[in-house]
Amino acid sequence: MNVLLADTILTMNPAREVVRGGAIVFDENVIEVTDDLEAIEKRKKTARVIDCGRGSIAMPGLINAHTHLEFSGVSTELNYGSFIAWLSSVIEKRETLVKGLSKELIDGVLDEMLRGGTTTIGAVSSYGFDLESLADAKQKTICFNELIGSNPAASEQIFSAFLNRVAKSDEYRSDRFVSAIAIHSPYSVSPALVKKAIALSQSRKTPLSVHFLESKSERKWLESSSGEFKPFFEKVFKLDSSFCNAQEFLSFFGGDGKILFTHCVAANDEELDMIGKIGGAIVHCPVSNRLLGCGLLSLEKLKNREISYLVATDGLSSNYSLDLFGELRSALFMHEGLDLPLLARDLLRSVTDSAAKAMGLNTGRLASGYAADIICFRLSGEVSDDSLLPLQAILRAPSAMDYIFINGESAL
Ligand code: BEZ
Ligand code: FE2
Repeated sequence: MNVLLADTILTMNPAREVVRGGAIVFDENVIEVTDDLEAIEKRKKTARVIDCGRGSIAMPGLINAHTHLEFSGVSTELNYGSFIAWLSSVIEKRETLVKGLSKELIDGVLDEMLRGGTTTIGAVSSYGFDLESLADAKQKTICFNELIGSNPAASEQIFSAFLNRVAKSDEYRSDRFVSAIAIHSPYSVSPALVKKAIALSQSRKTPLSVHFLESKSERKWLESSSGEFKPFFEKVFKLDSSFCNAQEFLSFFGGDGKILFTHCVAANDEELDMIGKIGGAIVHCPVSNRLLGCGLLSLEKLKNREISYLVATDGLSSNYSLDLFGELRSALFMHEGLDLPLLARDLLRSVTDSAAKAMGLNTGRLASGYAADIICFRLSGEVSDDSLLPLQAILRAPSAMDYIFINGESAL
């Protein structure tokens, strides 16, 4: 048993969000979070005691629900500012991006994410090059094996290659590695394959990840087979019309899944209503959206519909860092119309409790029975006002945590 003493515990448990001068008692799971000093003294007699010191803040480990580790190679060659310009540059530079890739490189990226406080990672895997790193990682990982390929003539090969990657990924399953499925997007996978992938994901009961309405040009292509996507598709994939429109695509999803719709920047009110009905969550990658010229997701529209959102970094091909606290800082400044302390609280929830719920994981909250995934860092002074704690934590969290526990084990 362990007793972690921290000045402040940000539990992310709505029943009691802040505990001052207390302790987290845990083994593999959290046993209790308490400020009962007598009880703590009693526990200390038979436990390992970790005293995090003055100014310490302990909270649940962060969850980065959407990244692409296979795109961790050189990205200075990519084009930014417009989605299609970026996508074309990714396709053109694919060789260079993949050539610079090695297990050591991905391991290093995962280590840095860990030091920054990310204890659970949703990694979209397009090729399977990241499987071993994900399986070896200290973090918990959800490997989203991605179905992608828009050539109708190659439909069967695309699906069987995808199933092979899923089977390979399944071999790495463990209590820390979830083998799951991703569908790239409504424009890059035909409806027939989309439906097969959804059925497969449902039968596996794992979360499903989908890129959806990242840009206005995607919307235009889906609605009317026109706009910037048209010359791109004609040239690169010899396609002259889209497979379906946005709402048809959403109609393929049932209401019983843990579905993560990534981006949704160009989704309209009806589509957001449909996502709400499906019970889906929206993955919000503000830096990526900015770099690719996609605009800013309206968090107010999600709030009105009680759709939860999860801040994530996307991959290094559309970001300069996979540091989740850094991404939260960007989000804080980009959503400048929203109340600052409340936004900060929401953002922190989005990478802990909300993310865990959306993916069906028993983490993201420091409360009895939840996994003991804990991070701890120190600020240079006190934050006496509870309502400003999330804001100060986001602003001042260091790039390396002082303590990290995953399933109760030290991960540093
Ligand atoms: C494809 O592989 O078919 C594809 C990839 C990216 C965008 C569109 C289509
Ligand atoms: Fe992505």
